[in-house]
Amino acid sequence: VSLKSYNTFGIDVNATSFISVTSEDELISVLKKNYAETLFILGGGSNMLLTEDIEDTVVHLNLLGKTIVSEDNTSMTIDVSAGENWHQFVLWTLDKNLGGLENLSLIPGNVGTSPIQNIGAYGVELKDSFVSCDAIHKQTLVTKTFSKKDCEFGYRSSVFKTSLKGDYIITKVRFKLNKAPHLLSTNYGIIEQELERNKITEPTIQDVSNAVIAIRSSKLPNPNVLGNSGSFFKNPIIPINTFKTLKANHEHLPSYPVSEEFVKVPAGWLIDQSGLKGFREGDAGVHKNQALVLVNYGNASGQDILNLAKKVQDIVYQKFSIRLEPEVNIYN
Ligand code: EPU
Repeated sequence: VSLKSYNTFGIDVNATSFISVTSEDELISVLKKNYAETLFILGGGSNMLLTEDIEDTVVHLNLLGKTIVSEDNTSMTIDVSAGENWHQFVLWTLDKNLGGLENLSLIPGNVGTSPIQNIGAYGVELKDSFVSCDAIHKQTLVTKTFSKKDCEFGYRSSVFKTSLKGDYIITKVRFKLNKAPHLLSTNYGIIEQELERNKITEPTIQDVSNAVIAIRSSKLPNPNVLGNSGSFFKNPIIPINTFKTLKANHEHLPSYPVSEEFVKVPAGWLIDQSGLKGFREGDAGVHKNQALVLVNYGNASGQDILNLAKKVQDIVYQKFSIRLEPEVNIYN
């Protein structure tokens, strides 16, 4: 089976064996019949770079469904199955006039993978609306409910990416969303500008979502048109002193506060200033509007993208002495 349509980078690798599961029971029965080490769990395929054929059995998590767990005058608690598409779920919450996820509109991928890297955009992170998630341990088949604290959320990180990496399969995520009147998070410059441009002075969650969609569509390539995995690298977090030294030579270097000792600098800016925006090698390229995104112009292999990523890392390192770290998961 070709996995080209199952990963947003559109990399054409083959899986020897492919199973799509539509219920937790089905998933558990697959786990019982196979050694966990021989399974490759596939969600939305939006944050991965596949570099070779997969000998393991690919298990496509096609678990669907949304359940309202409880509600009161101010909020609603909802369980969402892992295979639901993230953006479709955000649209559903807007339709119900539930606030909390509007800034996270148009992020590719599925609900089940959203906690793994604590998806975030425009000043909001998944963890802000997250209550808990259920996950099956691949070896013991025991289901555990992870509270927000258990998840150890950080910048593009959680326990599922660190100490428990690869151990669990998330099957369900519980969110707590807000009823009107909504508290909006619009103090992110570019969102304010987009709302102003549309002369919206009292924005609704729908307005914020529309603004985010407009911004994202103008800068980020649509994976259905041009294969990509969103931000390829993390925004590096560097010590304040290193930042001050850099800033002395690069006065326009942007930064975001992290703590007393550290700041975050945009990888896209570093790549752009290294002259790599729009750079292309065969079918692998650095996107022309957003240097943080690597793209597949059609027939790039995973290895082609990986080679380009290494070149970007090297050139940025030569110029700024900062080593960029991939944000996408690389399989090789
Ligand atoms: N910049 C450039 N050149 C570029 C790209 C960016 O100079 O080619 C500069 C921008 O001018 C700006 C700064 O870099 O001053 C930051 O750019 P932007 O606001 O577009 O955000 P980002 O840091 O590139 C992060 C997330 C995105 C998220 C946006 C908006 C990471 C790794 N990426 O990008 O997430 O949508 O902020 O909040 O944190 C994703 O994870 O796939 C993703 C798209």
